[in-house]
Amino acid sequence: MTDTARTSADVADDRATIVIFGASGDLTRRKLVPALYMLFAKGFLPQPTPIVGVARREKSDEDFREEMRSAVAEAEPTAFDAAVWDRFAPLLHYRIVDLTQSERFGWLKSELEGIERSFGTPSNRVAYLATSPSLFLPVVEAMAKAGLIPRHNERPWLRVVFEKPFGHDLPSFRDLNRRLRSLLDESQIYRIDHYLGKETVQNILFFRFGNAIFEPLLNRHHVDHVQITVAESQGIEHERGGYYEQAGAIRDVLQNHVLQLLCLVAMEPPALVRAKEIRDEKVKVLQTLEPGAPGDISNWVVVGQYTAGSIDGRPVAGYRQEERVAPDSRRETYVAMHVRVDNWRWAGVPFYLRTGKRLPARVTEIAIQFKLPPLHLFSTVECEGDVCSPVETRPNTLIFRIQPHERISLGCSIKRPDMQFAVQPVELDFEYDEAFARKLPEAYERLLLDVLRGDPTLFTRSDELEAAWSFVTPVLETLERERRRPAEYPAGSWGPTEADLLLARNGHRWRRPSGR
Ligand code: BG6
Repeated sequence: MTDTARTSADVADDRATIVIFGASGDLTRRKLVPALYMLFAKGFLPQPTPIVGVARREKSDEDFREEMRSAVAEAEPTAFDAAVWDRFAPLLHYRIVDLTQSERFGWLKSELEGIERSFGTPSNRVAYLATSPSLFLPVVEAMAKAGLIPRHNERPWLRVVFEKPFGHDLPSFRDLNRRLRSLLDESQIYRIDHYLGKETVQNILFFRFGNAIFEPLLNRHHVDHVQITVAESQGIEHERGGYYEQAGAIRDVLQNHVLQLLCLVAMEPPALVRAKEIRDEKVKVLQTLEPGAPGDISNWVVVGQYTAGSIDGRPVAGYRQEERVAPDSRRETYVAMHVRVDNWRWAGVPFYLRTGKRLPARVTEIAIQFKLPPLHLFSTVECEGDVCSPVETRPNTLIFRIQPHERISLGCSIKRPDMQFAVQPVELDFEYDEAFARKLPEAYERLLLDVLRGDPTLFTRSDELEAAWSFVTPVLETLERERRRPAEYPAGSWGPTEADLLLARNGHRWRRPSGR
């Protein structure tokens, strides 16, 4: 496979070994190894890059390779190529370690050294913690004890990648962070939010600051409100019930993915396109976040839980009937929030955030709705064929469609060709598929390559997470302290009616984006 976009500067220059802790889990199979295979196939991985899966389950190198072969073929059906696989497979190894047994890490160290000697590679290492969060600290402590953590400015280097969730609330985040920071330097820590690896998420910054015409409009003078939606039609997939019962929609998606999208759309231009400057601007957004309305949280937060319903005409169970979910669970599977970004640019502009499971479609988008023209000179019509009926005046809306069918569109009004003065809403559309005839890379490809390059721009810094947890923790605490029951919504609907009322108070309405 060739990739015309690759330049020599893109390829990670330092050779390293990738060690995946928790390699028998879902993430390794569905995301990590497929992403490494794609990087290899496109020529982005330095040659050779040994990959070592580490987990408790008994398995040989050959078993691991076979499992990963079908995982990659399933995840990347069109890109999978048996000849490329045959060159990639020898990089894969598997070592059996119970991650709670720190004495095994000395053995692991000598195994890694043996593998590196056989490939003639230096002992630079990326340790990817694809484990349950409860193992983050024990694994890093065991690595420290086994002499697997060099000082941050030493070579060979070590970079440690942490999957989310990083903390459960503000106190647990602070505690975990403090303990890890006593063993690792911040420059060695890569906290993943896979949304930042999505091409269309990165494009928010490029679109905003690479074009002169939109940026002067993105402020309180012109923007009426902003809606950020991360909707999923899937429910709680098998084996995830246990995790989701602890997490819920606020911790699972809002605290990280949704707030990251908010940062990118609301932040000021960075002084330089560099990790520090970009992350400094994002932190400022999080630090100025405020509830959208005073008083009780129910004035600005709505939580919901799905009941049985149907998705695409197929009946689906309610949350409480999902595997490993308590039959009287109060865990939220939906959250909507009205928040404000209380700074000079955005003061007074409502930002509406929502995410939920078992909504009608899988769709992630940011919609920036502009103010209406000061005078309604024309009537607006919507037509089916030649039959037109008058409708409300439509504001301009700039939409970043993150997924699926990635695109950017601008809703405008144009004169309808006819004998009257009537305007009709239309969309000016830019579609990735049409413009670039190739599949967008998966988020994990970009993020893994950035770890190998030592570029932390697309990873969350501790002060960003601290600010995000500071904002959501009081909400979580109130919900838990008052044992509030989430409002019910049938699977396949757009969430509880309470969420509609949240916007109706300000004369606004949620968009109903389709997944097409
Ligand atoms: C993960 C959440 O971080 O993001 C999942 O744990 C969620 O519950 C997923 O389904 C959504 O990611 P994507 O890339 O499918 O939008």
